[in-house]
Amino acid sequence: MSTPSRSGVFGSATDPKMLQFSESISYDQRLYKHDINGSIAHAQMLAKNGLISPADCQQIEQGLLTIRQEIEQGQFAFLAEQEDIHMAIESRLIEKLGDVGRKLHTARSRNDQVSTDLRMWIRETIQNIDSLLSRLQAAFLKQAEQTEDLILPAYTHLQRAQPVLGAHYMLAYCEKFNRDRQRFEEVSKRNNVLPLGTGAVAGTSLPIDREMVCQQLGFETVSANSLDASSDRDFVLDSCYALSITGLHLSGWAEEWILWSTVEFNFLQLPESFCTCSSMMPQKINPDALELIRGKASRVVGHLNSLLTLIKGLPLAYNRDLQEDKIPIFDAFDTVASCLEIAVPLIEQSLWNREAISQNLEQGYLDATTLMEHLILKGVPQRTAHHAVGTIVRKAMESNAPLRDLPLQEMQSVCGSLDESVYDILGTENSIRAFSSLGSTGRVQVKDQIASWKNQLNKS
Ligand code: ARG
Repeated sequence: MSTPSRSGVFGSATDPKMLQFSESISYDQRLYKHDINGSIAHAQMLAKNGLISPADCQQIEQGLLTIRQEIEQGQFAFLAEQEDIHMAIESRLIEKLGDVGRKLHTARSRNDQVSTDLRMWIRETIQNIDSLLSRLQAAFLKQAEQTEDLILPAYTHLQRAQPVLGAHYMLAYCEKFNRDRQRFEEVSKRNNVLPLGTGAVAGTSLPIDREMVCQQLGFETVSANSLDASSDRDFVLDSCYALSITGLHLSGWAEEWILWSTVEFNFLQLPESFCTCSSMMPQKINPDALELIRGKASRVVGHLNSLLTLIKGLPLAYNRDLQEDKIPIFDAFDTVASCLEIAVPLIEQSLWNREAISQNLEQGYLDATTLMEHLILKGVPQRTAHHAVGTIVRKAMESNAPLRDLPLQEMQSVCGSLDESVYDILGTENSIRAFSSLGSTGRVQVKDQIASWKNQLNKS
């Protein structure tokens, strides 16, 4: 069967090897719905502008809807010789309608068509990612509400640093994933520009109405330059970059919970339903879900790399290289969505080992910085206070005791400005109470943040 795009200029048929090599239908078939919607809007515009008759338009629309049904009922044959989803649908339409079907591709090229379809697919898929991200935030928020009274050690350089409320820790992830949602919103806005009507490269001499198609397909605006419109895939890069950051955020969190669920940390119990066993060591309960989330992030970053390299050095305008954008971008979206689907219930069902955490909480001098700030409030210069507290910590380490167990005289021998009130700020519980700055782990600040997130997430 000769493909409808093969014009009379060809004296011979396509080599079967070339057909196999160049097909994209095996993966771009997932654009079918968007392709059909785009074609219907295009046909209606052609009819309104007198380029096809209203009767032809009706037949085309009906034919396309029937094809959609055939695809959804599994009755549509996706054949490599039809190259891609655009040709496959058009060929089927021609098979059904004959010459009427042959009119659909008026004032259109696959170059503007594929970019339009992909933009519509991305727009829809971003909505799904956004709703998964909001569910993820809700899971962290729920954990935050349950850990308002739990004190955790916060780490820098993976060394014990200062105490924080469990809720403060959880809300850190609400912030990260919120920026991800904002990033996707910005990507979606730049993505929502209509290429259809720019033709193969230079536009068309036929009287078309791009604004009508734009409105009908829900785009915000039409692309202003036909050379640019069909040549670029920066909207694909934007999407993959946003997906990569979500992948990285998930990966960092996964790594943390893998560590925290070890016997060594023992902070956390992961739900067994998301863990797997070892084929040899019967005692193992492995955090494979988190490891895969961490691992899959690298796939997404790899896709971003492929896409950047794909676009590099392409001259204007459309080049067939661009077909290679689909496998990485589809997989990047699928991968992040699957990670989010797993992360939500895993977070919801994880349990904190409160006793184990609190047993070790007074180790590691989490209150040392609070002691330094206590001295600053007494008028000691920061550098002097920093050095003095270091000396006090050293003394405490030598007697293997927490700061609050040191006798006052011993602390006073290092810093004369200390008095009995020092015991009001020592120990992690007191230390937490001392925090007061905006965005800190102080109880009031964290309570406010929980309320604000509740409010925000209820609205979205
Ligand atoms: N399958 C192609 C792609 O994904 C569609 C556009 C093909 N255009 C062309 N002139 N061969 O990029």
